[in-house]
Amino acid sequence: MQYPSPLWPAQLDHLRLDSDDPAALADFYAATIGFTQLPQDDGTVVLQGRSRRLVIGRGERRSQPWTAFRLGSAPQLAALRDHLTGRGVALMASPSPVFKDGAIAVRDPDGRLVLFGLPRRELDATPLPKGEAAALPGRLQHVVVASTRLPEMMRFYEDAIGFLPSDYVLEKTGNREPTTAFYRSDPEHHCFAVFRCPETRPDHHAYEADCWNDIRDWADFMASRRIPLWWGPGRHGVGNNLFFMIEDPSGYLAEISTELEIVPDGIVRRTWPHEERTLNLWGRSFMRS
Ligand SMILES: [Fe+2]
Repeated sequence: MQYPSPLWPAQLDHLRLDSDDPAALADFYAATIGFTQLPQDDGTVVLQGRSRRLVIGRGERRSQPWTAFRLGSAPQLAALRDHLTGRGVALMASPSPVFKDGAIAVRDPDGRLVLFGLPRRELDATPLPKGEAAALPGRLQHVVVASTRLPEMMRFYEDAIGFLPSDYVLEKTGNREPTTAFYRSDPEHHCFAVFRCPETRPDHHAYEADCWNDIRDWADFMASRRIPLWWGPGRHGVGNNLFFMIEDPSGYLAEISTELEIVPDGIVRRTWPHEERTLNLWGRSFMRS
């Protein structure tokens, strides 16, 4: 089979979130999304749940210093390493405690690291915590950032690494410059996206549930914890997924999603107008620019 990219297939495996109070942030995610806390030798905490994991560390509040994608095999990792080297991308060792030795990292135009590797399989056998959140379905699925350098970010993720563009959002007038780019590395519509924004910052990450009733159950669970929904429920135009978002104690957003589009083979990226409806068919949107 001819794969469309050396990155194909890859999935979001985990991301690192930093806080000036990492213990409180880890406690919040453990209780709210359902994770077991696994302290690491490097001072970080791996949060392991059902098809989802995060790394929490001490650092600048509401920062997200790296994002880690899981490849399918050691030969795929070796091929991606050769591809990146051939594109002149500087390789570093992965800092993640989740990945096995040999994982690699590259630095994007915003300074964030992007990691590629193979996870330590024993993490998947971690006993789940008791409580309702751990039983709710939500596979860690995508991460999104906001950037003042959208054109440079697009060239890096698309041309240098090999993420496939699923959709661009474009200005409706003038030169119709891109305002958002959605990328995939397997048939799911996006595992990564970049918004044009007046500031460079993390935006959100998302857990993909199994069906609409899971959105109800997650929202009822949030209500039981007195966590208000920050945006939604709604249905994104781009990606077509049902969603809501909550805000964590550091002001970073987490999304519960379902019904994310599966992109058929052979689709060349499509375009959407830069307007509220593109991000929420049902109503108001969170516009980053
Ligand atoms: Fe999202």
